[in-house]
Amino acid sequence: MCGIVGYTGPREAYPVIVKGLKRLEYRGYDSSGVALLDGGGLNVYKKKGKVADLEEDVIGKDLHGHIGIGHTRWATHGEPSDRNAHPHQSKSGKLAMIHNGIIENYAQLKRDLLSKGYTFKSDTDTEVLLNFIEDIRNNNNCTLEEALRIALKRIVGAYCILLISDDDPETILAARKGSPLVIGIGKGEHFLASDASPIIEYTKEVVYVNDYEIAIVRPDELILKNLGNEKQTPFITRLDMDLAAIEKGGYDHFMLKEIHEQPDTIFDCLRGRLLTQSGQIMMGGIEANLDAFVNAPRIIVVACGTSWHAGLVAEYMIEELCRIPVEVEYASEFRYRNPVIHKGDVIIAISQSGETADTLVALESAKEKGAFIFGVVNAVGSSIARLSHAGAYTHSGPEIGVASTKAFTGQLAVLTMMALKIGYAKGTIDKERYLQLMTDLETVPEKVKEILADTGNIQRIAEKYKDASDFLFLGRGYNFPVALEGALKLKEISYIHAEGYPAAEMKHGPIALVDDTLPVVFVATKDSYYEKIVSNVQEIKARKGRVLAVATAGDEVIPGMSDDVMLVPEADEVIAPLLSVIPLQLLSYYVGLAKGLDVDKPRNLAKSVTVE
Ligand code: G6P
Repeated sequence: MCGIVGYTGPREAYPVIVKGLKRLEYRGYDSSGVALLDGGGLNVYKKKGKVADLEEDVIGKDLHGHIGIGHTRWATHGEPSDRNAHPHQSKSGKLAMIHNGIIENYAQLKRDLLSKGYTFKSDTDTEVLLNFIEDIRNNNNCTLEEALRIALKRIVGAYCILLISDDDPETILAARKGSPLVIGIGKGEHFLASDASPIIEYTKEVVYVNDYEIAIVRPDELILKNLGNEKQTPFITRLDMDLAAIEKGGYDHFMLKEIHEQPDTIFDCLRGRLLTQSGQIMMGGIEANLDAFVNAPRIIVVACGTSWHAGLVAEYMIEELCRIPVEVEYASEFRYRNPVIHKGDVIIAISQSGETADTLVALESAKEKGAFIFGVVNAVGSSIARLSHAGAYTHSGPEIGVASTKAFTGQLAVLTMMALKIGYAKGTIDKERYLQLMTDLETVPEKVKEILADTGNIQRIAEKYKDASDFLFLGRGYNFPVALEGALKLKEISYIHAEGYPAAEMKHGPIALVDDTLPVVFVATKDSYYEKIVSNVQEIKARKGRVLAVATAGDEVIPGMSDDVMLVPEADEVIAPLLSVIPLQLLSYYVGLAKGLDVDKPRNLAKSVTVE
């Protein structure tokens, strides 16, 4: 969380930075700011609210400068406010810094600095770190780079920082540990950002900075060093992304665009991998480690949020198709409870951003314990992708809307192919079922297209139920994680309290909530649990609950019992989540829209959670 942008070169820095911050707003949007530097000194502007509020605030101010840094914040230390917004300035006023991450030992550092007479204008850990750096420079009479290096060795926590100094109006000092940093290499100019989206329109050549590296960035020069002051060779990567992919392309919101992209993104994910003609699934990362998977005594899935829901679907698939026991862990719990990891256990890490701090740290400790880590990641070159021993990208393209949609179906597509490939290699599914599921998977993009061809019905349902204060989402088997995902989407986008539950478990508690005001969404497609879920619908109707159902086209029973229905094409139950989640994504989008909310940037959330 928090987005950072920096520029040094011949252009005016401000427009480059503000445009970049808007692309990074998905990372946080409670306040933003810029620091601009030229011969004439340092100008810092910051404002509570979105980047647009900052833009309004700086009208008429001096925005000149060929070097600058900018930040869009997701608050950790200190409430969202003008004074807690970044950049922060040091006591002397000569240094300005932005930071993404958390300095865990900031309280001790702050006490030390207070005792030396420092005062603080904000409640942030960032201002503490900045003054700590300045204090080291003053005491040691050293360069700013040296002071930064000393400070970084003494802090605990995660950071990506950009630092500029009034004394050196060409150089940006940058460093990272645990929070991402990409540097774009232009001709006589450099761009720095939390991800490549602010950079892509200027250059496709980038360097992903590694943990514990410091970058000294000038218009004509990029020097990378480790904390031991040894030069590192920058590894230049060519971005495989175009500008259109990160713009709205005629849709009102990124979320809607990303929902509608799913026929293409799922197709892209399957392309070149799912070869139904020859009956092969080509996945290099699995192929190279097939023995590890086939012989795994256990698979542990580690993820957060929507990715965790994809992990739950994977549990059903892998246990059924590969007969390998699977545990699905919240990364934040897994990392702290000293989990038992046996030799041979395989960890599947699922992450859209590849930067989620809890997932990253959980994987680091599992890796230290000798686990084999397989990443299912969307963001190419991200920290989790690089930390994994092997992996498979979901190829869903940049996901900007804070609520995850196309990344989820991309994850499901990859996980389904993995389960099929491993199960077939292991001999736990026969050829007929293997080929049948491959064929079914291949039809998913077309079936998603069918669902998306008529969204009017879902929009009408959203209008009808938008004022409900609570929702219950129920599903069984493969559709249980879909119910959880439907509830999460609705909470995120509409701020309506929603709970996801296994449909059979509902009689052990949530059924007490049911009355004629409670909408209950059943994910009730035709599968091996169908008869059971029909009974669950009856239990809700008997208590006058209002039933909304995701049902299979052609089914007459569930629609006949429901107040409102969202239909999806028929599919094998293993594949069904790829379809049944689509109406729920649309439902939450349209409820949020009907309530007049900012669906792309829901309050308090951030897309990439790079703090614990
Ligand atoms: C945040 C996002 C969610 C996402 C979760 C995990 O909470 O708002 O949409 O599912 O992080 O993110 P990851 O990038 O690891 O999939």
